[in-house]
Amino acid sequence: MGAGAIIVAAGSGERLGTGLPKALVRAAGRPLVAWCAIALSAARGVDALVIVSPPGEEKAIAAAIGDLVRVHAIVPGGTTRQRSVAAGIAALPTDVDAILVHDAARPLVTPAMVESVLAGLAFHDGAIAAAPVTDTLKREGADGMIDRTIDRVGLWRAQTPQAFRADVIRGMFDEADPIELDTATDCAGMAERRGVMVALVNPHSPNLKVTVPADLALVEVLLAGSRIA
Ligand code: C5P
Repeated sequence: MGAGAIIVAAGSGERLGTGLPKALVRAAGRPLVAWCAIALSAARGVDALVIVSPPGEEKAIAAAIGDLVRVHAIVPGGTTRQRSVAAGIAALPTDVDAILVHDAARPLVTPAMVESVLAGLAFHDGAIAAAPVTDTLKREGADGMIDRTIDRVGLWRAQTPQAFRADVIRGMFDEADPIELDTATDCAGMAERRGVMVALVNPHSPNLKVTVPADLALVEVLLAGSRIA
């Protein structure tokens, strides 16, 4: 079998201030989770899609997707992102060769982006979308003023999708303790700790994460101009 994809959509989206779970917030006429589901299911190599829902919102997530996409399962998420990923992994078919995890908060994902991350698995156990840091970085001092400049050479911003060989990511989660599931902020971080080689794949396209209202306004403009039906 090919890849199983997981959309983690169980976050509350408090910083967006809409009163809705973030995945259900609409941009350019569609909930964020629906944009992600369309792109992931259109990617070559993705055979099964699981959506991890805010607990109790499974029906609303199903309604948001409608009949646009065939979904293998919609399951309730956990108290942290990585606990939600674990719930998604448990719901995938057992025979997938690769597992790709994507945040519902990144609705600009494209099938090409998913395919290029999955292609990285031909050479490595993991591959993630990431962009080189282009801003000059400052560390803040104790007084709130600039302490110093951090050399940005070799620094990347980790994004999603993130893909791993299925046996590797299942192994990572099998051995993860509760502290790691509560503190890790992405799967690549768990992989690094275990010495798993993870490739950085530059998507060369905006892959914004919607966190605050200004992000939503920007994503709205970019999605309205996108050609995904
Ligand atoms: O909060 P943040 O934007 O970093 O979350 C990243 C992704 O993880 C979002 O798509 C969010 O829905 C998801 N998440 C989750 N379960 C949680 C927390 C976050 O699925 N408990």
